[in-house]
Amino acid sequence: MSETFRAFWVEKGDDRTFTRSVIERNVDDLPDGDVLIDVQYSSLNYKDGLSATGNPGVTRNFPHTPGIDAAGTVAHAAADSGFSVGDSVLVTGYDLGMNTAGGFGAKIRVPSSWVVAMPDGLTPESSMLYGTAGLTAALCVDKLISSGLETGNGPVLVTGATGGVGSVAVALLAKLGFEVAAVTGKASQHDYLKELGASEILPREALLEGGGKPMLKETWAGAVDTVGGEPLFNAVKSLRYGGSVAACGLVASPAFDATVLPFILRHVNLLGVDSVELPLAQKRQIWQKLAGDWALDSLSLMREDIGLEQLSGAIDRILAGEMVGRGLVNLAA
Ligand SMILES: NC(=O)c1ccc[n+]([C@@H]2O[C@H](COP(=O)([O-])OP(=O)(O)OC[C@H]3O[C@@H](n4cnc5c(N)ncnc54)[C@H](OP(=O)(O)O)[C@@H]3O)[C@@H](O)[C@H]2O)c1
Repeated sequence: MSETFRAFWVEKGDDRTFTRSVIERNVDDLPDGDVLIDVQYSSLNYKDGLSATGNPGVTRNFPHTPGIDAAGTVAHAAADSGFSVGDSVLVTGYDLGMNTAGGFGAKIRVPSSWVVAMPDGLTPESSMLYGTAGLTAALCVDKLISSGLETGNGPVLVTGATGGVGSVAVALLAKLGFEVAAVTGKASQHDYLKELGASEILPREALLEGGGKPMLKETWAGAVDTVGGEPLFNAVKSLRYGGSVAACGLVASPAFDATVLPFILRHVNLLGVDSVELPLAQKRQIWQKLAGDWALDSLSLMREDIGLEQLSGAIDRILAGEMVGRGLVNLAA
């Protein structure tokens, strides 16, 4: 008899409605791949919300198990996969949780080319507290520093600051000695952002002012933008000379209605960040940093534990922009 495992399950109805439940799945129904992983932890990211509600840019094939992150132990590995039974591993991005059954199931089967050996200093639990959100925040910070950001240059802006990417970006920048200005729509979470290390807090509306002006006062040495749209262009327009914005998100809008003026008059940079298709060797380097010099003490402040049965409600909250910090999904709960 074939083995089964618990999984979150999204089905598409005839009327294009999407229903969510927790079911027993059969291991034989997982896709091909040379590594089978017993998933202990996953995490909730905005993209999982898009997958669970049938966004065709994320998931086209239903029924489906979302979950773009997974960490656990190798249960079976092909001889030439580079992995052995019992290895502690993590997987983020590529097609996991998009059209490949994802980490909201207690088992995944994936190509070994997607799998990262757990770095010393991280566990399945702590790695998923970072998850794709943390990897992305660290990539943004890494790219800003590579583009010349230094601690003496001035304050660094973070938008969507109480979200997953935003929370890790605030905490990481503060840990590295940067002065952080956090933008949030949640008036109730100012103390949380200060505990993470923000020294200044701005309401969301502050990034909607000045839309009609070609340039704004030089304010930010750099920025991590998780929201896109008007706030992103306003961040670009208010960069100090030579500064950069790392753009990774679109919760406000995928639009970027801009002029070239800040680029050609202030020498500023717009840096694109993608943690999904990033080559595995580069993912490994960022994970090594998060396991080492960049390890955060404040992860427990961001943590919300979510069992499979609570996932549906948490998905509604992340899509409404109401989550704070990181949702850690425990597959055993
Ligand atoms: N490029 C990549 O590789 C990559 C990887 C991971 C994530 N992302 C993207 O990054 C974004 C954030 O992901 P996440 O997982 O951190 O999501 P999240 O936890 O939901 O965080 C998003 C935050 O943005 C703010 N927000 C929500 N709606 C907004 C609106 N209409 N206008 C302005 N701010 C709004 C909220 O924070 P406040 O209430 O504090 O304002 C919210 O908590 C998403 O667009 C996601 O797709 C991209």
